[in-house]
Amino acid sequence: MKRATLLIAFSALFITHAAFASDIYFIDKNHSNVGFLIRHLFTKVPGRFTDFSGQISFDEANPDQSAVEVTIKTASVNTDNDTRDKDLKSPNFFDVERFPEMTFRSKSVKWTGQNTAEVTGDLTMHGVTKEVVLKTEFTGKGKGAGPQGTIVPGRDATTMVTGWEATTTLRRSDFGITWNQTIEGTRVVADDVQIQLRVEAEKLLTPPAISPALMINTLEQNNGPHPGFRRIHAKGVGVSGYFESNGRGAALSKASVFLPGRVPIIGRFSLSPGQPYAADSPHTARGMAILFKLPDGEEWRTAMLNIPVFIVNTPEGFYDFLLASASYPATDAPDPARMQAFLAKHPESAKARQSIRSYPVSSGFANSTYNSLNAFRFINAKGAVVPVRWSMVPAQPFEPISTAVPGQADKNYLFDALIASIHNSPLQWHLVITVGQPGDPTNDATLPWPPDREQVDAGTLTIDHVESDDTSPARDINFDPLVLPSGIASSDDPLLNTRSAAYSVSFTRREGEHKDTSAVSPAQTGP
Ligand code: HEM
Repeated sequence: MKRATLLIAFSALFITHAAFASDIYFIDKNHSNVGFLIRHLFTKVPGRFTDFSGQISFDEANPDQSAVEVTIKTASVNTDNDTRDKDLKSPNFFDVERFPEMTFRSKSVKWTGQNTAEVTGDLTMHGVTKEVVLKTEFTGKGKGAGPQGTIVPGRDATTMVTGWEATTTLRRSDFGITWNQTIEGTRVVADDVQIQLRVEAEKLLTPPAISPALMINTLEQNNGPHPGFRRIHAKGVGVSGYFESNGRGAALSKASVFLPGRVPIIGRFSLSPGQPYAADSPHTARGMAILFKLPDGEEWRTAMLNIPVFIVNTPEGFYDFLLASASYPATDAPDPARMQAFLAKHPESAKARQSIRSYPVSSGFANSTYNSLNAFRFINAKGAVVPVRWSMVPAQPFEPISTAVPGQADKNYLFDALIASIHNSPLQWHLVITVGQPGDPTNDATLPWPPDREQVDAGTLTIDHVESDDTSPARDINFDPLVLPSGIASSDDPLLNTRSAAYSVSFTRREGEHKDTSAVSPAQTGP
């Protein structure tokens, strides 16, 4: 029996690919059509969306594992009439400002004939998620190009292509799209909408990725332009000090940082938002970035956060999160409906958000634990490789956050407290390595590892100097998480490459720009 899996969000791709070894086919926009038909007065009017993406996992050996996901940009609605399209994009209908995407993600596929299936899944549109059934036909599979070649980019005579058609009928009122008028008793626009998908999908070796520049552009859109500053973690201070290894990490990694002895460090504490002058807030994520300067010219750079897990586990998840976090112009705040739609599309993020919200937040930078969140690999002198995550665990005692937040009265109160502590006496953290066991997720930063995993205290970080971003060398460092010495290597976590690429774009842009003075000035930090 023929079997198919239509998949469109990249998050699902990684999971499905690993679990079922399906062939992944990406929707080819050049030869696909996402159309709809809706009655206006007495006639059905056709329309289509011109910007969509998706992927199909076609597993003939395991037909029951079929699945499909599709993402459609609502602003690409096209009914060949500009005035009508403007109305369709407005809050009367798709409200594209608030709901820029609609998604379909399958939950089950039931084959009803040799080439026909019912694909049941969640459609999220206009901030509402409802189950719909796509009546689907598999229309063929074969080579996508002959010896004469093809005009489709990335395709050649070896590329396999599949064809699909799917239909369903929706009630737009089920999704809260209710605008209507009545003329002499006749409703102008019907409630029922027929959806028709005609899809050609090709098997590509690598999925089309969200580019790092797109991610940084989106951050710039969300936060407004702040030339010269990091595109997130814009507000921060530089620090320096040293790391004293006790030698215990050397059994796990041959990196020279774990040999007994001391190496200098340069670091930076930051708050996660992309606004460099925002008032300190206790619940935004705090960052600690450290560059270990190793004796033979090697470097280890790590950027950690004071949360237990990361909010997303794929680049696409992060991009979706950025879209959902954007301030909606009407309220100058993120739109709750968009965030709900994001959480419905990314259940892993909904779970991670719960863990983050239930994690005890400390009173300040000095008594926060900072976690690598992404997994890495340690390689020891014998060549043994283990998966690891690491944390900087404060020697300063935990105190819960104060309920009284000074806000605008003392915009820098978290940084001021950090500066005062360092001026008072050096601050210390233990570098604790957590060793993963086979089966612990190394490619999913939203998942914690079991609490009983071996932990190795590899030494103590001492921070004894603090400086404004205006004068600190840390301002001009890119704390790229993939700058690693021999003995520490990347893992299969897809976020690591994304981070590295995105940090590079942010760094390249800000280094070329005029620098305004930062919120925490040299007068506040002292020399
Ligand atoms: C796909 C996911 C992520 C993206 C796209 C991203 C992007 C960025 C960017 C663009 C910067 C500014 C870089 C610069 O201009 O130097 C930054 C800084 C930072 N990120 Fe991420 N990040 C991601 C995930 C994470 C994770 C998982 C962590 C921690 C575990 C993290 C911790 C930090 C910290 C601490 C900084 C500030 C570093 C500094 O002070 O220079 N980020 N991030």
